Amino acid sequence: MSKTRESAGFHPGTPNEARVIDYLLGGKDNFAADREAAEHALAVAPELPMMARESRKFLGRAIRFLVAQGVRQFIDIGCGLPTQENAHEAAQEADPDARVVYVDFDPVVVTHARAILANNARVTVVQADMRDPDVILGHPHLTRLIDLGEPVGVLLIAALAAIPEDEVALDIVARLRQAIVPGSWMVISHPISDGRAEMTKKLSTLFQDREIVKGSRRRSDLRTYAEIEPYFDGLELAGPGIVRTPAWRPGRGEPSVHPESVWSVAGVGRKL
Ligand SMILES: C[S@@+](CC[C@H](N)C(=O)[O-])C[C@H]1O[C@@H](n2cnc3c(N)ncnc32)[C@H](O)[C@@H]1O
Repeated sequence: MSKTRESAGFHPGTPNEARVIDYLLGGKDNFAADREAAEHALAVAPELPMMARESRKFLGRAIRFLVAQGVRQFIDIGCGLPTQENAHEAAQEADPDARVVYVDFDPVVVTHARAILANNARVTVVQADMRDPDVILGHPHLTRLIDLGEPVGVLLIAALAAIPEDEVALDIVARLRQAIVPGSWMVISHPISDGRAEMTKKLSTLFQDREIVKGSRRRSDLRTYAEIEPYFDGLELAGPGIVRTPAWRPGRGEPSVHPESVWSVAGVGRKL
């Protein structure tokens, strides 16, 4: 491993969220430390691969909904490794002119995404920390594709759980909301602890002990539904509101799982 890559934050010996999820989804972009952490997580919550798949399906439904509302530019923050149902596939299938900027702080995600997207002029990848929305929104790769004077769809899919400090997570959402023009949309999903406190506490401890979730404050549990609601302040929620992820505007033949079996909620709101 070259020094440059290590200093850029590539640490195969430490499990990493994007690669753990890649393993859960049957991908190959993961290392022994990721697989070991994922197996421990699976022992606590065997439904995690199903949850990851439901998250991707929601992403596709939300993008298609926003394209139908006239949105043609998207920023997918904490995008994860490219897998099935990527934002640009859903968006460009609905309108080939749609533009998508992926953002993640993980260099493995960024390298893979750049390789996959090399031939797509309407998609780009920004390596940045979501804790600094101004850097993301001012990044030259983003401003080349996205006109922030026009409505945009900002996606935070299962991303804010990586920020354990509540006030920081709220501030990230508020700053993004302030920066987008009226008529823009925010798409947010988040795992919740409601009704499953014991299991989600074990998972939170596992992810923090292994430094998968990094932050200055330890939370003993995932956020609750009531703690997710304020992320949608100042937005007009599209129906059906903030619901279990599979229950958000299910398509034909969906939901294929019982919505309550998924301990994650999702909502889509428009800035007025
Ligand atoms: C649970 S994954 C979600 C991936 C994807 N959005 C999905 O739903 O399949 C969270 C992603 O957020 C990224 N992430 C975590 N903390 C971040 C930060 N501070 N800034 C940017 N990305 C971050 C991780 O690298 C990971 O890819």
